Amino acid sequence: MAGEKSITFRVRRYQPQGTKGPYYQDYNVPYRDDEVVLDGLNYIKDQLDPTLTFRWSCRMGICGSCGMDVNGSPKLTCGTFIRDAGRGGVVQVDPLTSFNSIKDLVTDFDPFMDHFAHVKPWLIREKEKPVAQGEYLQYPEDLTAYRQQSLCINCTLCYAACPVFQGDDRFVGPASLAMALRYIRDTRDQGAEQRFERISTEHGIWECTFVGECSVVCPKEVDPAGAIQTLKLMATTRRMRKLLMPKSAPR
Ligand code: SF4
Ligand code: FES
Repeated sequence: MAGEKSITFRVRRYQPQGTKGPYYQDYNVPYRDDEVVLDGLNYIKDQLDPTLTFRWSCRMGICGSCGMDVNGSPKLTCGTFIRDAGRGGVVQVDPLTSFNSIKDLVTDFDPFMDHFAHVKPWLIREKEKPVAQGEYLQYPEDLTAYRQQSLCINCTLCYAACPVFQGDDRFVGPASLAMALRYIRDTRDQGAEQRFERISTEHGIWECTFVGECSVVCPKEVDPAGAIQTLKLMATTRRMRKLLMPKSAPR
């Protein structure tokens, strides 16, 4: 990466086998205006320090693996320009605060995957029809109903931005709850009751205090905060219908 300008990257390092705790290491990184923070990290890895460890894959905001705290804010590093992040003279890069660091900028995704699996993010059918009977058809408006939530790339920036999750990691969390809504709204799915049993709980939708930062940082405009409020409304309506009209209660 050749460029006339350069800037300091202050990167949080952590080696689990090391004798010292987390510490910051500074690197002088040349850059052009069209380069992003991930380019700077790759420059460090390729040219200055091959021991620096971080995740990335697609470089185009699709894989969700390059999320880090850039100057204290959760960002996709492949979508954050150095020219913007470096306005204060330093680009500070930390692992996302959502989950523990395994090494340097790599966080442990396992707790997130546990929360994600908790909402059953797959189509549930009471009875599968034989393949020979064909697909489950949908109309464009059926797709529109859940398309926004389906755009999630599992980057976990929303968990890093969520003060509720920072205080209680039992909270199912923004992206997982948005994914629950995505499947509940899918006309092919019949698993709403199973999901509401799991998410209409103390550590599910009712733990969300609607701070809304999850939606602010989301790079895909999934709006998990809005999804959770929708789920609260749906859960309340279902509960009332069950109480008042038990025979016509939704499944
Ligand atoms: S909801 Fe947005 S911020 Fe959260 S994991 Fe999905 S894409 Fe990332
Ligand atoms: S590298 Fe894939 S989203 Fe950034």
